[in-house]
Amino acid sequence: MSNKKEIRIGLIGCGLMGRTHTNGYKRLGDFFPEYEYRPVLKAACSRSEDKVKAFAEQWGYESYETDWKALVARDDIDAIDICTPNDTHAEIAIAAAAAGKMILCEKPLARTLAEAQTMVDAIEKAGVKNTVWYNYRRVPAVTLAKQIVDSGKLGKIFHYRANFLQDWTISPDLPQGGTALWRLDSDAAGSGVTGDLLAHCIDTAMWINGAITDVSAMTETFIKERVHQASGQVQKVGIDDACIFHCHFKNGSLGLFESTRYARGHKALYTFEINGEHASIRWDLHDMNRLEFFDHDDDAIVRGWRSILVTDSDQPYMGRWWIPGTSIGYEHSFVHQVADFFKSLETGEPCAPTFQDALETQKVCEAVLASAASRSWKDTGVENDIS
Ligand SMILES: NC(=O)c1ccc[n+]([C@@H]2O[C@H](COP(=O)([O-])OP(=O)(O)OC[C@H]3O[C@@H](n4cnc5c(N)ncnc54)[C@H](O)[C@@H]3O)[C@@H](O)[C@H]2O)c1
Repeated sequence: MSNKKEIRIGLIGCGLMGRTHTNGYKRLGDFFPEYEYRPVLKAACSRSEDKVKAFAEQWGYESYETDWKALVARDDIDAIDICTPNDTHAEIAIAAAAAGKMILCEKPLARTLAEAQTMVDAIEKAGVKNTVWYNYRRVPAVTLAKQIVDSGKLGKIFHYRANFLQDWTISPDLPQGGTALWRLDSDAAGSGVTGDLLAHCIDTAMWINGAITDVSAMTETFIKERVHQASGQVQKVGIDDACIFHCHFKNGSLGLFESTRYARGHKALYTFEINGEHASIRWDLHDMNRLEFFDHDDDAIVRGWRSILVTDSDQPYMGRWWIPGTSIGYEHSFVHQVADFFKSLETGEPCAPTFQDALETQKVCEAVLASAASRSWKDTGVENDIS
């Protein structure tokens, strides 16, 4: 019989993120055994009874609901985990905050800045624990990049460059909307690649390199009309298929960001590179256990890019896993976020990125879209670094 304190999880949305988060909860006790709190998979929620029942059985939830409002109203739930499409985040989070629940919300926080602000207001009023799943921060190589930059090894930063490239929406025959293709429907998603993919790049960038102060962007919608699953009618496409922006960081460095779902051959090519006065760093999601590092202070005859396999136990999170030289994967970034959230319950510290941090990322996304629409530079309104 465990004497750990229980946090009873109510998970809403049983798709891709519902699975990654649940896997994270299930791994916590095995790999972070000394933690004081433990998650209990109390209830899963999705609208289709057949699907949610099967999901609950497969993943080990004690019960299920088909209406998220019923889940939020239950007094045997401590934390609400929001894994649903973007148009539902605000309503669920505001109701969960009013019910006094802890909230773990998927990114982007909301469809728009105004919507995100209502969520921040709600959690601040309720004083509930919160976090947003910008999970790439917790890939060990990315966490190590942050530690190296913080240590000052790069010196003054000049450039931050990031890409997030995919190729899955090139066919004009792909419809928009509905359960599988809500990302193509601007009513459900808010935006296209800006909120879906660049939001990750922006979160990582501001975490590592500080505030983005102003942006100049262009967006393109290559396929202008698609059949909508709900109406069966051909409708205008409202999302950005591709977005490129450049920006200033508060620390004086320049940023260059590109995201598209039209880069044939690329499935999820998230890369970033940072160039400083003394050294540079680069990372690639397709080779996620590696960090590349160039140090100009190296002896000239051996100077060159080092390829660091981030698997040693003194590198971030890796002491929890296997032996040096053996890799971990995408799912571990979610296990790490669960672990950091549960550790924050012990320490009483916030679990970054909080809703407030995610609001700053939302400000940049909003400024990017406004800049593209007006063909002009826009201030983001972000003043401080995010945690
Ligand atoms: N952190 C990441 O790397 C990452 C990756 C993918 C998606 N996401 C985010 O996670 C969220 C979900 O994305 P996904 O890829 O898991 O989507 P998905 O389409 O795979 O799953 C969404 C789930 O929500 C359910 N759902 C939809 N509306 C609902 C409602 N009103 N009530 C209850 N259930 C409802 C659907 O039935 C489905 O089970 C989005 O906000 C997305 O941006 C984040």
